[in-house]
Amino acid sequence: MELRGLRDDVYRRPLATALDRLGIGPGWTCVDVGAGGGDVSVALAEIVGHEGRVYAVDSDPEARDEVASAAAAHSQVLAITQAGEDLRLPEQVDLAFCRFLLLHVVDPAEVLKRMAAAVRPGGWVVAQEPITSAGRIAGAPFAMPDARHPDIGALLPSLVRGAGLDIVDAWAEAPAGAGPGPVADYLELLTEVDPGDDPVVLPPLVTVVAQLPAD
Ligand SMILES: C[S@@+](CC[C@H](N)C(=O)[O-])C[C@H]1O[C@@H](n2cnc3c(N)ncnc32)[C@H](O)[C@@H]1O
Repeated sequence: MELRGLRDDVYRRPLATALDRLGIGPGWTCVDVGAGGGDVSVALAEIVGHEGRVYAVDSDPEARDEVASAAAAHSQVLAITQAGEDLRLPEQVDLAFCRFLLLHVVDPAEVLKRMAAAVRPGGWVVAQEPITSAGRIAGAPFAMPDARHPDIGALLPSLVRGAGLDIVDAWAEAPAGAGPGPVADYLELLTEVDPGDDPVVLPPLVTVVAQLPAD
């Protein structure tokens, strides 16, 4: 799957694999919870087209401006300032998505329950969350002390089941590299550490693709 909006996103491969798994297409309605700068929202907008809709939800009001500018060419993206714990949309959606969100929230189980409540019966929930301590820089474990739940990815399948969802597929994958390139650039952005020529394995992202049971 071609995801133009994610050309520079080192985690684009797990996203493309997950979206392929759903059969998402034109006309779908989606919510991207914890949308941040809107990379995923824009990628979804390109797939669902102008007949679809993408709600880009983030608790940080500044994210709304970022998404608005990233999605300027996509009138189907609607940016909303709202906490995932209070997720409430004007309609039930086909897909509720989050990536790199649950590691930061106070109550990941509650956010997943809200995401499950946001989709139509038979609709999809996709969560992509890291196991940060499984990342490596020159063989040494990666640390992300600012995150509330840095290894939430390891718990993701059971959290998703606890939200009343059926798991359709689940896996983990991590970008890796050595020397200059997108992996080193991403690490520097995240940690302000330039790894030089050291080998880097970024934190594996656990993807869970799940479905709300049909009525
Ligand atoms: C690391 S960024 C991820 C951005 C985007 N999902 C991505 O993968 O590129 C995390 C985002 O989650 C937002 N966030 C944190 N806690 C939240 C909450 N409780 N509800 C909604 N958004 C939240 C932050 O403001 C931030 O924009």
